[in-house]
Formats: sequence, structure tokens, C-alpha cells
Amino acid sequence: MDIERIIDELHLYEKKVLKALENLEPPISPEDIVKSEKMDIKAVMSALGSLESKGLVSVHKSVDKILKPTHASKKYAIKGLPERQILQLLSKEGPLEISEIMKKSSLDKTENKVAIGWLMRKKWAKIEDNTIKITSEGEKSLERLGSDEILLQELAEKGQIKLSSLSDKLKKAFKLLNQRKGLLKVKKVKEHEIHLTDKGKTILERGLEIREEATQLTHDDLKTGRWKKLYYRGYDIHAEYPIIFPGKMHPLKRIIEEIRDIFLKMGFTEARGPIIESAFWNFDCLFQPQDHAAREMQDTFYVKNPPETKLPDKSLVEKVRMVHEDGGSTGSEGWQYKWDVEIAKKSVLRTHTTCVSARFLLENKPPLKMFSIGRVFRRETITYKHLPEFHQVEGIVAAENVTFKNLLGILREFYTRLGFKVRFRPAYFPYTYLSTECEIYLPEKETWIELGGAGMFRPEVLEPLQVETPVAAFGLGIERLAMIRLGIEDIRMLYQSNLGWLRSLPVCP
Ligand code: DAH
Repeated sequence: MDIERIIDELHLYEKKVLKALENLEPPISPEDIVKSEKMDIKAVMSALGSLESKGLVSVHKSVDKILKPTHASKKYAIKGLPERQILQLLSKEGPLEISEIMKKSSLDKTENKVAIGWLMRKKWAKIEDNTIKITSEGEKSLERLGSDEILLQELAEKGQIKLSSLSDKLKKAFKLLNQRKGLLKVKKVKEHEIHLTDKGKTILERGLEIREEATQLTHDDLKTGRWKKLYYRGYDIHAEYPIIFPGKMHPLKRIIEEIRDIFLKMGFTEARGPIIESAFWNFDCLFQPQDHAAREMQDTFYVKNPPETKLPDKSLVEKVRMVHEDGGSTGSEGWQYKWDVEIAKKSVLRTHTTCVSARFLLENKPPLKMFSIGRVFRRETITYKHLPEFHQVEGIVAAENVTFKNLLGILREFYTRLGFKVRFRPAYFPYTYLSTECEIYLPEKETWIELGGAGMFRPEVLEPLQVETPVAAFGLGIERLAMIRLGIEDIRMLYQSNLGWLRSLPVCP
């Protein structure tokens, strides 16, 4: 960024801090600036923060300790540490037994013990024949203070000292004193040492004008024309800003809405159906034989309550039975087994939304275009690509001249609107002929993946429902589509409410 712009955007406080850095003697702390500029520490710290982010200053952080005397150490600073008091006693009285020291010293019992301990440790005295005697080291010490005692006196005099300001000798003395109980108060403090960077220096060389700036334009400023004379700081568009995560639609819900929108725009009517469905609508009327593998307990959730659901009109049930047993009047042979109405009554969690289409065909006369979006259930172990509950979109087009080609056209149109390239492969479903599976192309992986089924409903499905026109039908899973759209490899992501991931998604796709 060019220097002029930086200067123009400097806040008054930033300018003041820069000036202070130019004038003060290093090392410079924020407190020094507080004093020299008569600024509040918070203002200094925030100005330093923004100057640092603009690269005009560098701040070195370190930890220091502040030492303060205690009540006891102030007393010892005057009278001498316990060991010195006893040293003086010994010097006056000559060698003494411990019991005599206890009697004659003005210290209390614990202080006396401490004193004798340190007399030994400092080698100022030794014990001989049960008495305590001054050593030659002790004699010398009568004349001069140890560095621990000097530190104690300085502390008493100054009130507080920073550890970093001490000489090496006194730093050692601090360690010694700090081993003793109740002599020092030590507080850790964070230190900031501030330096101008080269960029900061360039700006100062260029010269800074410190003048009041207008922060807010008032009604009065405008009315009186004062605004013309006011100084406005340049607006810093690079300043840091808080990141906001606005509420937004869940990505799965978003794709559902997008699919809904596409079908509505293509002229389809939306329908719904029950989630707890009879086996009749879920399987039987779709010409799925009663011994079909998909109807097994390990694939389908059968519902305990209600154990049975009401079947539709008797005549429809009867026609479905005939179609299963021998094809009825459809010209087909049917499945050639004895159809059991009890099996058809069982209630299941619908395993696909194709039953919604079947129900719709009973209630509505062609020509029609209908779609439905809903949850379906299968007994699947949860893995990265399977869930026991997911969404499907299903649809039918029924009219006099509807053909399989029309069906492919509709699907191609739908996938193209979603932004995918599609191809069709032959497939098998009990309820359609011709049947196909749609595959869409994944450019990143250079592969095709299967996304749903489609086909022309068989006469075995249509005749009992009394539908006389051809019906093109399709159904596809939505979660897979969502995964491709969102670039995720694990289907569970769609249901885990991983906030970090959800936040990372754009508000608008
Ligand atoms: N119901 C099938 C499934 O769940 C998908 C399907 C295939 C739906 C063919 C249809 C269809 O309407 O005609 O996998």
C-alpha cells in the first residue's frame, strides 16, 4: 500500500503512538507511551495492535516478574535477617549453646531455628562441642552484607523491583531469597517492548500531522457548513472485521427446494403420501411378488403399530390379486402363486416413493404430470454411503401418447437443469417395462454413477388402477445428488450438523 494512503488512514491515536515511539528512548513499553502521550492504556494497546497489523511497529512480548517485599522482609531489612541477628549475638557473646541462643536472642523460636539453619548453610558458624561458634567466613560477613541482604534492602527502599532489571548477582540472590518462606511477593507480568519497523520509520520521516479528526458527521455540521473545515480520516477498507455466519438453509433442504422448483417449472403437480404405508401400496399394486427379496424383514421396516392398514376398495384389491396370480386380463401370466391378502395388509415404512405415484393414479385421470418428494426407509447399516432413512423424488407423466423416449427426454431435461450430464442404461424393475437406470457424469472422477430408476409402468400395474394411457415413471435418491453437489464423501455429513462445515458453505449456491 502506498505511504500516502497509510498516512491518510491513520487514526489520531496511531499517529500519537508513532510520534511517541520517535521521541522516547528505547526500550519502550506501552506504559511509557501512556505517560508521554497522556493516553489511556486501552487506547495505546489498540493503536499498537492496528499499527502492528499494518506493519509499522513490531511488538516483542516477554514475561517478567515483579518482586515486592513482605511485612517480614521489611522488618529484616532494618534488623537484619535472622542469621545476621544471631551472628551479631555470637560476636558479642562468644560461642553459645543452642539453649542459650534461644534465651538471649530477641527472635522467636522458629526464627531461631531458621537462623541456625542459615548460619550453617552460609558457613557463618559451626557447631563444636555442643556450642555454636563463628567461622572465619562469619567474621568476614560481620563487615559486609550478602547479596540476598542487599536485595532485601533495595526492595524495602524501592517498594518493587523487576526481576529483569537485576544484576546477575542479585538474580542469584533472588533465587536464594525466594526459597525462604514469606520474604518475597512475586508476580508474573507480561511485558511488551515496542520497536518501529522500517516502514514505520519511513512514515515518520515523511512527517505526520496530528490534528483532531471528525469521527461522526452531525446534522449540525451539515447545516452550519462546518463539515467543509473538518478533517476526515481515510476509510480503511482493509481493516479487520468480524466474520459473521448468517443463518441459511440446510444444504440438503436447499437441494430439495431446487428439485421442487425444477419440477414445478416443468409443469408437474406436487403430491404427497403417507410414510406408514400398507405393503399393498408399497409392493403389491406395483406388481412386486409377495416372495420378492425386497419385502423381507431384513430389507424393510415392518411397523408393529398399527400392525395392519386399511386396504383400498375391494375391487382394486381383487384385481391386484388376479394380476399377481395369473395376469388377470392383462395378457400376462402373472407370477403364478397364491396371493395372500393378509401379507398385503401389513404396515411398512415406505421403502420408496413409487407408492405415492400409484395412489395418485387411482385418484387422478390422465393427462397428468405429478411429482413427489419424501422420506423413505430401508433396513441398512449406517455407513459412509448408506442411511436407513433418506429422500427420494418420484414422478409420473401419464397421457395418450407418452413414450419411453419422452421419459428419457424429461429426465435429461431435469438433470441438465440441475447441471449434470446424464446417460441411460437398461435395467429391471418389477413394475416397469421398458426400464432404465439413469447415470450422471462426475468430471472430477471421470466416472458415471447410478442415480435412479425409471420406466413405463406395466399393464399389471395400470390395469387394476384403471389407467388407460401409458405412464412414464421415475424415482431417484436425493442424498447422493446432494453429496455430489457438495463434494462430500460421507453421506452422514448431511445429518451430523457439523457447524464448521455448514458455516463454510456459501449463503447462496
Ligand atoms: N422405486 C425405485 C427405487 O426406489 C426407483 C424407481 C424405478 C422408481 C423405476 C420408478 C421407476 O418410478 O419407474 O429404487
